[in-house]
Amino acid sequence: MKVIKICIGSACHIKGSYEVIEIFKELIEEYKLQDKIELCASFCLGKCSNEVSVMRWDEKILYISKENARQMFENEFIPYL
Ligand code: FES
Repeated sequence: MKVIKICIGSACHIKGSYEVIEIFKELIEEYKLQDKIELCASFCLGKCSNEVSVMRWDEKILYISKENARQMFENEFIPYL
């Protein structure tokens, strides 16, 4: 199981953590990845930026907004499974 940690710290919360979580949940269902990917909420990842910080498999932080969430999921997560 690979883990995606989505920051819900205050800075990321304001930038739309919950929307990103909802979009990722839908994408996981759409691509039938429920057995492969687990979504977790995380406290501040220490990289508050202009977008929501999302940790890919404990290896890399990516910066995601609700506008780019689908594209990032398809390009930065699915190929790295
Ligand atoms: S609040 Fe999300 S990285 Fe700091």
